[in-house]
Amino acid sequence: MTGAELFEKLKDVRISGGACAYTLEKCEAMVPLINAINALKKQKNAVILAHSYVSPEILYGVADYSGDSYGLAKDATRTSADIIVFAAVRFMAETAKILNPEKQVLIPGTDTGCTLADAVTGADVRRLRKEFPDHSFVCYINTTADVKAECDVCVTSSNVYDIVEAIPNEKIFFLPDKLMGKNLQEEMIRRGVRKEIEIYDGVCYVHEQYDPEMVQFMRLKFPGVKVLSHPECSPGVLHASDYVGSTSQMLDYVRKSKDDRFVMLTECGLSSRLMVEFPEKQIVGSCTMCKYMKSNTLEGILRVLIKARPQDVAELSEDVRLRAKRCIDAMFEYTEGKASALRGVELVEPS
Ligand code: 13P
Ligand code: SF4
Repeated sequence: MTGAELFEKLKDVRISGGACAYTLEKCEAMVPLINAINALKKQKNAVILAHSYVSPEILYGVADYSGDSYGLAKDATRTSADIIVFAAVRFMAETAKILNPEKQVLIPGTDTGCTLADAVTGADVRRLRKEFPDHSFVCYINTTADVKAECDVCVTSSNVYDIVEAIPNEKIFFLPDKLMGKNLQEEMIRRGVRKEIEIYDGVCYVHEQYDPEMVQFMRLKFPGVKVLSHPECSPGVLHASDYVGSTSQMLDYVRKSKDDRFVMLTECGLSSRLMVEFPEKQIVGSCTMCKYMKSNTLEGILRVLIKARPQDVAELSEDVRLRAKRCIDAMFEYTEGKASALRGVELVEPS
């Protein structure tokens, strides 16, 4: 790849709707790293999985697969590579390791926590299980392997409503996202599904920042704009939105929509992806960054491919891995063959 080729891909990425985030010089400086990574990938039979929130030079320079947490978990099961480099956060790399014990899974980010995954431990779930013995424990994929090992089924933002609806037990304990839990309670009422849902107290520090007044302001400033939000936002924000879905579902909505102006109430990486892939559409408003996702860099990816340190490698005890795998396999069983599970929630028909 040349600097000019990279710049051609990234030239439409703008910072808060203003200046271009990339210059030809910046792209030329990145290309030696990109070419070194792509050569090492071939030499070592490695693939790079990247979440849509990481920087565009990773997504469009070196990534082999990109998507939301459900799509990447599935991609991790499809590759025949010996090494998976997971440019995202630690819980996503752990999920890949749970599904691929024979592969080496590398974590190039330098701060790969997540305020949701860090909110609850396996010991917390064991304590709650004693308190709520009749409940089915449903965990968001944004949890550690230790937590998944203690739960019955895992869900992602793309399938949470359909899976909880399908669970035969009326009593559900959902963790750790409080806001997604409230949205889940409301959606079950909206669907007429009888569920008693207890919720935990975690939040995503990126998505909790949005409020309905902000949405009203954007609608006044940009008449006709379509507002898309992630189910980690508050119920008030979801009510004020035109569409709610996982990051890949939002991307798909924009791809199919005849509208040309969108506000994305999620992490900046998704807005950048839309600017690259749909330059004819306008992404308005400023976005919010996740410091954990943005701790992934080209330098970090090259470093782990050359020589990974113990902290760069996803490792799990076999006992935890097998118990956590049951929880993820239960999600795949609920989801597979149900196209509806991958649908977002459309609040207003796209015109
Ligand atoms: P998605 O599965 O929708 O990509 O969400 C992952 C995430 O961390 C959102 O903050
Ligand atoms: Fe976690 Fe929020 Fe960052 Fe997603 S955006 S990885 S939920 S902290």
